[in-house]
Amino acid sequence: MSQATNQSWGGRFSEPTDAFVARFTASVNFDQRLARQDIQGSIAHATMLARVGVLTDEERDAIISGLNEIQGEIERGEFNWSVPLEDVHMNIEARLTDKIGITGKKLHTGRSRNDQVATDIRLFMRDEIDVIEVELKRLREGMIELADREADTIMPGFTHLQTAQPVTFGHHILAWQEMLARDHERLLDCRKRVNVMPLGAAALAGTTYPIDRHVTAELLGFDRPSENSLDAVSDRDFAIEFTSFASILLMHLSRMSEELVLWTSAQFNFIDLPDRFCTGSSIMPQKKNPDVPELVRGKTGRVYGHLMALLTLMKSQPLAYNKDNQEDKEPLFDAVDTVRDCLKAFADMVPAIEPKKASMYEAARRGFSTATDLADYLVRKGVAFRDAHEIVGQSVAYGLKTEKDLSEMSLDELKQFSATIEQDVFEVLTLEGSVAARNHIGGTAPNQVRAAAQRAREAMAALKAGA
Ligand code: ARG
Repeated sequence: MSQATNQSWGGRFSEPTDAFVARFTASVNFDQRLARQDIQGSIAHATMLARVGVLTDEERDAIISGLNEIQGEIERGEFNWSVPLEDVHMNIEARLTDKIGITGKKLHTGRSRNDQVATDIRLFMRDEIDVIEVELKRLREGMIELADREADTIMPGFTHLQTAQPVTFGHHILAWQEMLARDHERLLDCRKRVNVMPLGAAALAGTTYPIDRHVTAELLGFDRPSENSLDAVSDRDFAIEFTSFASILLMHLSRMSEELVLWTSAQFNFIDLPDRFCTGSSIMPQKKNPDVPELVRGKTGRVYGHLMALLTLMKSQPLAYNKDNQEDKEPLFDAVDTVRDCLKAFADMVPAIEPKKASMYEAARRGFSTATDLADYLVRKGVAFRDAHEIVGQSVAYGLKTEKDLSEMSLDELKQFSATIEQDVFEVLTLEGSVAARNHIGGTAPNQVRAAAQRAREAMAALKAGA
């Protein structure tokens, strides 16, 4: 079967496929990754065909044991993949016929590679989504625990990357966690639309055999058979949806990476990453580089690229199946691998982040981060907010000139700017007072952070795959 002419359509053709064309059109070098799902789908298909009387029980059993042996050959690396046989589907079917004779040729009854490949990719995506979900949960758990541990740790919060107001480190980490909570929902939502079975659509119009698609769907764990055969073989929007989930997730991980890179620099000096997540320089002996977050940031681009590739792949395709669709696999596989690796890197790394608390605290103290607290204090004493803003602006200008933070000024110094300022001002000018005062749901106060961490744990536990 591995000659130049592909026997599955040889009947109509008067010359063999051009050698270059055979190589150009073949997908086996990459779609062999779908072998497990292809066999799983074929076993369910043969089981259903026997149930409705299209195959005898003996034929079904021969097919299933042949396929199981092939699975073993593939796992042991003994399977001989053939490019002239074009793709994973025909390689496996040809091997089955080698092994069990003409019964092997009956497997394709009532089926086409078009519904077969659509089924394989959906089974593959479902498997991968479930693995990705485990890593995503592990990462979220790591963040929630880190946030809980660091609920009292004070750091500067930024806008425009300029010191704005003090926040707690736990609050910052929970902001990351919220991004991932939405990604988690997107992933599970995508899974619902992945888990629909195309098998039975055959080439495009369905089949004349008395198939029972509900049986096959149930055997394969699909929620239901697809509604429309034309749509079933041509649709790849679930792959676009997954890649879009992946792009948003990577965008989030990239933002976090950027912060980790900044925070490990000598200029920020907010955290330490354990040596095992870093590498050195071959020329500069002092260097410890945050390669892992840098690479995650860098890998984001290729996933965006895959999303664009898939959108473009689909945009002009008339119904139903077109060979263009063979191009869906490499972007999808790479998106899956990249997401898995990046999530693993982050899930391993986040619990190991070591905050340098004194340094964060000092940075928050330096940037006049309690200026808004002073303005709010004045407002509580009856000053209009715009006037309070002006008064605090003058105090900051004075602080810049004298190199003093607001909390380091004496009461007399502060009184130069407003007579309403009293001794009690120092309670609001401390970093602890500032964060503790933001004591409402969604705020940065340590007790709010602990409560938010607990809610995040519960929300994650309540999310269910396929729900
Ligand atoms: N290798 C093909 C793909 O990945 C399988 C389906 C081919 N169908 C066809 N009619 N040529 O899409």
